[in-house]
Amino acid sequence: MDRTFLMVKPDGVQRSLVGDIIARFEKKGLKMVAGRFERLPEERVMQHYAEHVAKPFFPGLKAYIMSGPCFLMVWEGKDVVAITRAMIGATNPREAAPGTIRGDFALEIGMNVIHGSDSDATAEREIAIHFQPDELAEYRRIDEPFLYE
Ligand code: RTP
Ligand code: MG
Repeated sequence: MDRTFLMVKPDGVQRSLVGDIIARFEKKGLKMVAGRFERLPEERVMQHYAEHVAKPFFPGLKAYIMSGPCFLMVWEGKDVVAITRAMIGATNPREAAPGTIRGDFALEIGMNVIHGSDSDATAEREIAIHFQPDELAEYRRIDEPFLYE
């Protein structure tokens, strides 16, 4: 099954959006297979955002991501990367469609509530940065026969 790495960022945690965000993915039919609440160490922030370290917004992004605890998750489902990116919405919450997480819950690009892997390769890389293989649970959702035909 396809997997992705999702992370509620510090603003989402401070604003008590973790439960609402998890509920959206659960109701969609996706399966959470790992979760951890933690303040990210600098080393993993640098690895996670390696593609952005040289960009002008990186110092602000790093300070924001390390400003408080995040909720890190791995989710499974068919085409889970594309599905969750669509549910998260555009990077800039002002441009994110209503009904998406950023469209419904955020206003600023620098505080956009949630991260989601943008490809299968990125997902594999990000899961490996944040989780050990034995932290990923293997189980069946009881409703799987009514989610997949
Ligand atoms: P993410 O990686 O967090 O899921 O967001 P994304 O794919 O939609 O956007 P990406 O281009 O990967 O940017 C990563 C995060 O950096 C911050 N950012 N700030 N001020 C700016 O111009 C700017 N651009 C990006 C955002 O927090 C974005 O989510
Ligand atoms: Mg990204």
